[in-house]
Amino acid sequence: MTTQFVAAKKARNMEYANKVIMAPMVRIGTLPSRLLALKYGADIVYSEETIDHSILKCRRFHNRLIGTVDFIEEGGRSIFRTCPLERRKIIFQMGTSDPARALEAAKLVKDDVAGIDINMGCPKGFSLKGGMGAALLEKPEKVREILTTLVQGLDIPVTCKIRILPSVEKTLELVKVIESTGVAALAVHGRTKEERSSSPVHIDVLRQIASIATVPIIANGGSDLIKSREDAAAFISNTNCSSVMIARAAQWNPSIFRSSGPLPTEEVVKEYLKLAIEYNNPFANTKYCLAQIMHDRLTSPNGAKLTAARSMEELCNVWGMISYYEEIMAKRRELYENLSIREQK
Ligand code: FNR
Repeated sequence: MTTQFVAAKKARNMEYANKVIMAPMVRIGTLPSRLLALKYGADIVYSEETIDHSILKCRRFHNRLIGTVDFIEEGGRSIFRTCPLERRKIIFQMGTSDPARALEAAKLVKDDVAGIDINMGCPKGFSLKGGMGAALLEKPEKVREILTTLVQGLDIPVTCKIRILPSVEKTLELVKVIESTGVAALAVHGRTKEERSSSPVHIDVLRQIASIATVPIIANGGSDLIKSREDAAAFISNTNCSSVMIARAAQWNPSIFRSSGPLPTEEVVKEYLKLAIEYNNPFANTKYCLAQIMHDRLTSPNGAKLTAARSMEELCNVWGMISYYEEIMAKRRELYENLSIREQK
């Protein structure tokens, strides 16, 4: 099969144009946040980045108590949790420096997700030292090898997420290398790896990339300009890209995806907490995500209680949701007993 044919076949599986997307975000992009973004109208959601080595150490487990598929490390820690509700919208993002290892890891999750994305923009020391993330931006041959191996070895769409390089010319050359591999789309964070999020996003460079690209370009880096879905649409048209990917603005208010406008913070918090309870999200992650949603009101009475909370019960108490929590826990215990009895028979 030629690369072009494979790409055309995969592009039909998942369309990346005209989409408003929740970006990959470590610690934020866990199941409750993704489901909430989808509920509010995000078209596609990315998982937080998982390193290929980590997923390779996991076993796949069908968690019948909460209706999820969990990828669990030997010690019992869940590395990635997903569920049928997001099956066609979830892109699993991976960090890698090696084509064969990336393919092996992607094969473990491919039947539970809609696509695989490779992080080629992370500027953090651990990524760079491991030859992953933004380290790949300087190695177009390695980029070509990783993406070609994945495109040819998988039957789901493959994408990657990059940052721009200091030279526009080099950035455009890299884009050409990437699209020649048969990826279904390319997300571009319009900053260099040296630039922090406080630097303005390079809309002009995103525009130049869009003008030469033959695959959908997903524009990223505009959170400071995006406070609503309308702003997200404006970012698409200002950059001339096909789609937009939102990180920080969605971290602070997941209801930004609503076409009828964002909701008040306390309402969003309750919706988030409901999903965290239903999907048994770990307390520490739940508290962290809630603290991001409450970021500008952590000194309010509920913000102070959130900061002081030491358990899921205490979190639920802050927003009057303890009876919902207890109801879900009771149902889960009942289901557990029924499943145990059935297994003993
Ligand atoms: C990120 N970002 C990120 N990028 C990525 O490719 N994989 C990841 O796991 C993460 N993790 C992450 C965590 C958090 C808390 C933040 C704020 C950001 C970068 C992110 O996806 C995005 O590229 C930048 O934040 C720029 O987009 P916004 O924030 O301007 O929309």
